[in-house]
Amino acid sequence: MKTYVFAPAGDAFQITCMDRDTPSPGPGQVRVRMKAASLNYRDLIHLRKQAGRNVAGKIPLSDGAGEVTAVGEGVTSQKVGDRVAGCFFPLWKSGPFDMIHHRNDLGGSLDGVLTEEAILSADSVVAIPEHLSFEEASCLPCAGVTAWNGLVTRGHLQAGQTILTLGTGGVSTFALQFGLALGAKVIITSSSEAKLARAKSLGATAVVNYRDNPTWEKDVYKLTEGKGVDHVIEVGGAGTLPKSLACVGPSGHIAMIGVLTGFGPPAESLFPLVGKNASMSGIYVGSRADFEAMNRLIREKNLKPTIDRTFSFSQAADALEYLATGSHFGKVVIQIS
Ligand SMILES: NC(=O)c1ccc[n+]([C@@H]2O[C@H](COP(=O)([O-])OP(=O)(O)OC[C@H]3O[C@@H](n4cnc5c(N)ncnc54)[C@H](OP(=O)(O)O)[C@@H]3O)[C@@H](O)[C@H]2O)c1
Repeated sequence: MKTYVFAPAGDAFQITCMDRDTPSPGPGQVRVRMKAASLNYRDLIHLRKQAGRNVAGKIPLSDGAGEVTAVGEGVTSQKVGDRVAGCFFPLWKSGPFDMIHHRNDLGGSLDGVLTEEAILSADSVVAIPEHLSFEEASCLPCAGVTAWNGLVTRGHLQAGQTILTLGTGGVSTFALQFGLALGAKVIITSSSEAKLARAKSLGATAVVNYRDNPTWEKDVYKLTEGKGVDHVIEVGGAGTLPKSLACVGPSGHIAMIGVLTGFGPPAESLFPLVGKNASMSGIYVGSRADFEAMNRLIREKNLKPTIDRTFSFSQAADALEYLATGSHFGKVVIQIS
């Protein structure tokens, strides 16, 4: 079989393709013929060594979907032919996070899914919604579950509330979809008028161009008639947090997710949280229970992830370069077989 691995390349990593023997599942494991994988900004962080992780030799990418081709001893929950996706954190079933998961994440500490055949523990794969293609389902494990956790599990989103989501990448476009499907109003920002028009066509309640309008937080506040938003999907990090703090309303919730502006400390005071009795949660993807709860909504509302562009397996490096340009809307996908 063919597989990609991270390989050192100067002060960064690159991905290289190699041949390996097709692995057999051990007790409690399944072998999955990966059909599609999707990219996350995290994969660029690994390549650039931005988080300082040594991923040399590991198979990249956390997010993929495929078909079970073999089951190991003792596995009764899966059978050959099942359509599945792996959980980002294979050991996180439900409930609170545990630091052990930092050493057990697909495409980071553990081998990921940019491979023709992956070995996964049987209790860490979930059935993918029947109406989704493998390409669509491959978008769910990280970006989808993160948006779900931030809005629903930790954010306790209620119908009628207002969400602000930043940019039009993977996490944000899932937040847009889930928010609308759950009866919320969604304000989305982008640096691109074309992307804002696309977000509008998908049902965004209001759109704001953050590039043309350096004080965009004032526009968001006006759009809420001075009430502020109930939820922020904060994927920007230090550079956007002051604006998110300005946008959040009384008793609102900021789901602190991303680092698109870097890993630095916030440039301004966090005191607005106090003054507004608002809360902020650190969100690190989510559990298997989050994944399954999200899938129930996806099935019920017939939702389909927004795919920007699909690359072939041999073009995986091009796909990562394309993601790095930031020109995508939604998800970038690699077809594997
Ligand atoms: N904590 C977690 O568990 C978790 C999980 C998933 C992702 N993340 C993090 O969340 C962030 C987003 O991840 P992703 O995979 O969704 O990324 P992505 O798909 O690569 O999204 C990139 C998009 O973000 C927007 N963007 C870039 N800089 C921005 C800024 N300064 N302000 C507002 N929007 C900006 C741009 O949208 P426009 O082109 O529309 O401007 C860009 O196209 C990353 O930092 C990632 O590491 C964290």
